Amino acid sequence: IGQDSVAVLGHSYPRDDFTNVTPRILAKVGLNLHNQSHHPLWLIKERIKAHFYSAYVGRWGNPLFSVHDNLSPVVTVEQNFDSLLIPPGHPSRKKGDNYYLNRKTMLRAHTSAHQRELVSSGLDAFLLVGDVYRRDEIDASHYPVFHQMEGVRLFSNHELFSEVQHGQDLSLFEAAGRRTPQKQETHSLEAVKLLEFNLKLTLTRLVTQLFGEDLEVRWVDCYFPFTHPSFEMEVRFQGDWMEVLGCGVMEQELLISAGAGHKAGWAFGLGLERLAMVLFGIPDIRLFWSQDQRFLKQFQVDDVQQPVCFQPLSKFPPLHNHISFWLPEDEDDFTENDFYELVRSIGGDLVEKVSLVDQFTQPNTGRRSQCYSIIYRHTERTLTQQEVRLVHQEIERSAETELGVQGRY
Ligand code: PHE
Repeated sequence: IGQDSVAVLGHSYPRDDFTNVTPRILAKVGLNLHNQSHHPLWLIKERIKAHFYSAYVGRWGNPLFSVHDNLSPVVTVEQNFDSLLIPPGHPSRKKGDNYYLNRKTMLRAHTSAHQRELVSSGLDAFLLVGDVYRRDEIDASHYPVFHQMEGVRLFSNHELFSEVQHGQDLSLFEAAGRRTPQKQETHSLEAVKLLEFNLKLTLTRLVTQLFGEDLEVRWVDCYFPFTHPSFEMEVRFQGDWMEVLGCGVMEQELLISAGAGHKAGWAFGLGLERLAMVLFGIPDIRLFWSQDQRFLKQFQVDDVQQPVCFQPLSKFPPLHNHISFWLPEDEDDFTENDFYELVRSIGGDLVEKVSLVDQFTQPNTGRRSQCYSIIYRHTERTLTQQEVRLVHQEIERSAETELGVQGRY
């Protein structure tokens, strides 16, 4: 294989001008933290499964939702974007935000990438858990690999209206309708209102089950290309509103393309780290990748419902460093995520936070300069200035050779 292709999970993918996965990222593929028994992400997945299994049963006592947690994170660009009606050129497709194996293949950026295939396979109600990959900033709540749970539920005309008086006279669809802020053109308003109500009730029940009755929840209108109307759920955490999931009424065009055009449905996607951080009081997202038994053994419960009282590990002291450089002449060659990526690929989990602290443009030449602060901290021991200096110098060198910046060191 060698230089001209990338190997992932036993397959090899030819490199091209879109290839931007790094060895550090590839090393995470296949770890499947959500399937490692007693890992906090596994624990939260098990609690959510238990809730759906007991709260939603079919006519013969069978669980309504099936659970899928073993789909490969390697997907086609078509699955990740086109299948969800995300148009060509949409900003979410940027190389700077995603990990491409090549122009055709990528590491999924969200579990929604599998909506169409699972609906096509005939499922009406499912949960799907998986690792997702996004190039992003670096701080205590962002990590380039995280985990999502997708939920989808479809309804036939009969299923949606069976509880409603005279429901047999109502219809999911209406001809010649218009798209409004409330609904899609083909949906009837009564169908959408019931779907929206069922969606919000399902999710409110879920977070209430996880966090208890006292949790404050609010709904915010938002936009996704594959749902309309769309919402975000926020929960109140330590005084602030925190976004935990996106959801909405599925675009009918997507269901039609999946062969389920006679049904209507909702979908949601929630971030498991976010929920686990709040639920267990985990202060830093890097801890999910820790092999430290002082961390992992705290989740070794006999019963998944047993409360976990997480004792934060003592924090070791941070080391602050700065780096300043001139951006390349052609600024299109450089995005901030390129720098974050480089820092992460060299500094690894020693890096707690990177932030752009200053930038300026030199008046005569028009050249731009940026200054970043990097906070180094090991979650398991005290770092020395010497070892951090080696890493920091390597970042300085690589920024010049890999990104074409000119150091002001
Ligand atoms: N995929 C969306 C995201 O990652 C979340 C989402 C899922 C929104 C399903 C609507 C429906 O942000």
